[in-house]
Amino acid sequence: MSDDIRAIGVLTGGGDAPGLNAVIRAVVRTAIGHYKWEVVGFRDGFEGLVEKHSVNLEMDDVSGLLTRGGTILGTSNKANPFAWHMGEGENHQLVDRSGEAVDYIKSLGLDALAVIGGDGTLSIADGLREKGTKVVGIPKTIDNDLYETDQTFGFDTAISIATEALDRIHTTAESHHRVMVVEVMGRNAGWLALHSGIAGGGDIILLPEIPYDIDKICEKILWRNRSGRRFSMVVVAEGAKPLGGEAVVARVVADSPDPIRLGGIGNVVANQIEERLNIETRVTVLGHLVRGGTPTAFDRVLASRLGSEAVHLLARGESGRMVRLSGSEISSVEISKIANKQRLVPADHSLLRLGRETGICFGD
Ligand code: F6P
Repeated sequence: MSDDIRAIGVLTGGGDAPGLNAVIRAVVRTAIGHYKWEVVGFRDGFEGLVEKHSVNLEMDDVSGLLTRGGTILGTSNKANPFAWHMGEGENHQLVDRSGEAVDYIKSLGLDALAVIGGDGTLSIADGLREKGTKVVGIPKTIDNDLYETDQTFGFDTAISIATEALDRIHTTAESHHRVMVVEVMGRNAGWLALHSGIAGGGDIILLPEIPYDIDKICEKILWRNRSGRRFSMVVVAEGAKPLGGEAVVARVVADSPDPIRLGGIGNVVANQIEERLNIETRVTVLGHLVRGGTPTAFDRVLASRLGSEAVHLLARGESGRMVRLSGSEISSVEISKIANKQRLVPADHSLLRLGRETGICFGD
């Protein structure tokens, strides 16, 4: 066991995901309860680290957190200590404030930092590691697109919420003999659309990884109508794009490290279907609905295992690593291996094969 850890910091960065609070709870319980360390939480991700907003966390602070969505620490998907936005208009510049962040960690007497986040957040954590801070990463995202882990926490909850929504939309689709298009999150990776689409009986599933041909989609709907199924369910990931075309951009968040926000593809696809087939079509955008609220039992368990193991890693003197799910076991990998990478749905994935074998159209 490493003797040099007495106190650690914890922060949550990037978009929120169900299970963040369960991780914070496991980190605090293991660090304080098991190792008798102190724990400090940083407010709003890396913003708190740079702007010096922190809070001491005690056992009582994490009571009742297993079921609670969001993050009690707050989060930010804009704050990057290595590229901090300063000034406005012509005076705008990106400033490296990572030195201040490292100094703040030291001034609080912290020996290490547990960072809960996705690829962007963990890439920043890796930068802090390069500056000499002991860090451990805990993988989070409803997109499930992180490298080197079989699953991120938050994904299971997102699938179940999207699936429940699809089940409900299914019955109204059937009653009105309509095409129902359901848009779910997933910028570059279509894991959420793929899993919820299969679980929720999607007839057509459109992923960012497979450019779609609108004619193939219409053929599938007509085929269903001819065989007596006068409704169809289309599940579309926000990053889906037509053959030779681009994803639909909803807005550009200029001061974000990842400025493009997608959204609107559901309407584009629905309009094309209605125009071509003259079948009534409706759109539902699930958006942030799948990111909020109570995590599933699976995500609570996974979040607890990852949070606890992150603390054990630091105790064993193993920093610079990200905890992960490998099969059914928790292990770890160097954070540098996952930085700035995205795990997409591979063309030969077994769920795509299953989908095709069971009659799902992927738009190709
Ligand atoms: O990374 C998760 C994610 O939910 C993406 O699928 C989505 O594009 C993005 O976050 C939206 O984030 P926000 O609206 O919080 O900026």
